[in-house]
Amino acid sequence: MGLFDWIRRAPAGPLIVLSNREPFVHQRAENGSLAVASPAGGLTSALQPLMAAGGGTWVAWGSGSADFDVTDAGDTVQVPPERPAYRLRRLRLSPAEIAGYYLETANRALWPLCHSQLTRFVYDAADWLVYRRVNERFAAAAIAESGGHSAVCWVQDYHLALVPGILRRVRRLFVHQFWHIPWPPPDILRAMPTARTLLRGLLGNHLLGFQTAGDVRNFLSSVRRFVRGAVVDPARGLVRHRGERTLVRDYPISVDVAAFTERAASATTEALARRIRQDALPRGGQLLLGVDRTDYTKGIPRRFQALVRLLEAHPELRGKVTLLQIGVPTRTDVPEYAEYEESVARDAEGINAQFAAGEWAPIRLVRESIDQPTLVAYYRAADVCLVSPLLDGMNLVAKEFVACQQGRLGVLVLSRFAGAAREMREALLVNPYDIGAVAETLYRAVTLAPEERERRMSLLRRRLERHTIQDWMSDIFAEVARLRPAT
Ligand code: F6P
Repeated sequence: MGLFDWIRRAPAGPLIVLSNREPFVHQRAENGSLAVASPAGGLTSALQPLMAAGGGTWVAWGSGSADFDVTDAGDTVQVPPERPAYRLRRLRLSPAEIAGYYLETANRALWPLCHSQLTRFVYDAADWLVYRRVNERFAAAAIAESGGHSAVCWVQDYHLALVPGILRRVRRLFVHQFWHIPWPPPDILRAMPTARTLLRGLLGNHLLGFQTAGDVRNFLSSVRRFVRGAVVDPARGLVRHRGERTLVRDYPISVDVAAFTERAASATTEALARRIRQDALPRGGQLLLGVDRTDYTKGIPRRFQALVRLLEAHPELRGKVTLLQIGVPTRTDVPEYAEYEESVARDAEGINAQFAAGEWAPIRLVRESIDQPTLVAYYRAADVCLVSPLLDGMNLVAKEFVACQQGRLGVLVLSRFAGAAREMREALLVNPYDIGAVAETLYRAVTLAPEERERRMSLLRRRLERHTIQDWMSDIFAEVARLRPAT
């Protein structure tokens, strides 16, 4: 899919994106200078040309310390800073709103619920009301931005589940939402006291996208079970409710393959990758790599235990393999996350104390966020990438690793419970709960014959090249274009 085809498929007229995180954050440094960062994941960068072409608006929580130093009286600023092309409308959230909407409801209720981790599920009715109020504020901002004209609204993720139900009442708006995380089975969802309201909010979408067919099935079963009067047609992924229709489909997200491939091929990346190997490994050793936000869904402690089993079962690998774990601290204002981050570090220390010999230690834990050039160098340096979440919507680390492997024979060990496993069948697939089996698979990975590495990686790459983030977005907009005349 060329850039032109993809932009051609974008909605005619303005696009209004709504997301919790903003595409550009303004911060004030200690010396008073202003810095702007783009915490750009692939989705944000892929959206830039569309926003620039259509001159749309992005509505997001203004979370940077200097965000409102640069906005106008309507809390908007033109972005990207170096070539302004569209509006970013920042919402000012009070500390109480941030707590009830983001820290509590989004991160302590919806996140564990959707990842089927009920023992970590914390629900509070007062916080839910704050979540609802903040969703109303997002919707009101989008409606104001549309100025009474027709527009396509693209709502991102679980922070904004109640927004579509409000937008749907405005006839000229087409509403699409992409849910980036898993959707739980109805028997898990029933723990959420406001499950019905949540589902009704999502049924405000004309088009609702999930990562996998399994998520779509779970969502449709949930609607059938909790929303009285809704008629579900599972074969067509269609829900009819109160005279409105919602099409529910799976769109597995991908990565910007061309951007990763280009960066991976650069001489600077190669030099950095060589340095990483020299620092982390004895001569002839193998580098295992884990890259995660330090989130309890990522299965890092079990991964460490699998490494212990590997070293116990194959003592000849001691001094030869190192697990380099990038653990990016995340959501540390939420108690579960702060505790987990500490416990991961303690686990690593304990294992290192048990096995370290001379210069070598089995785990190197990097407890900080890293920039993209460095990340690509880690992908190039690794012999094996170990992606073992307990449950994950997609997991883009698996795809980024493959996108960076041209001319290299890295092995991908991937959890069956990551959405990515549905497409990446040539990875070595594991059940992350079966620690002994993960250890055996790691052994297989470090001893895999070069021809077999090559065969698997080239199949993985070929499939990834046929389904990039641009293809993903193009598929969604093709469906928007098909459905839109009916709105
Ligand atoms: O899909 C989960 C997600 O919201 C991602 O979009 C994002 O990369 C990650 O979690 C970060 O979470 P937060 O915005 O809470 O820091």
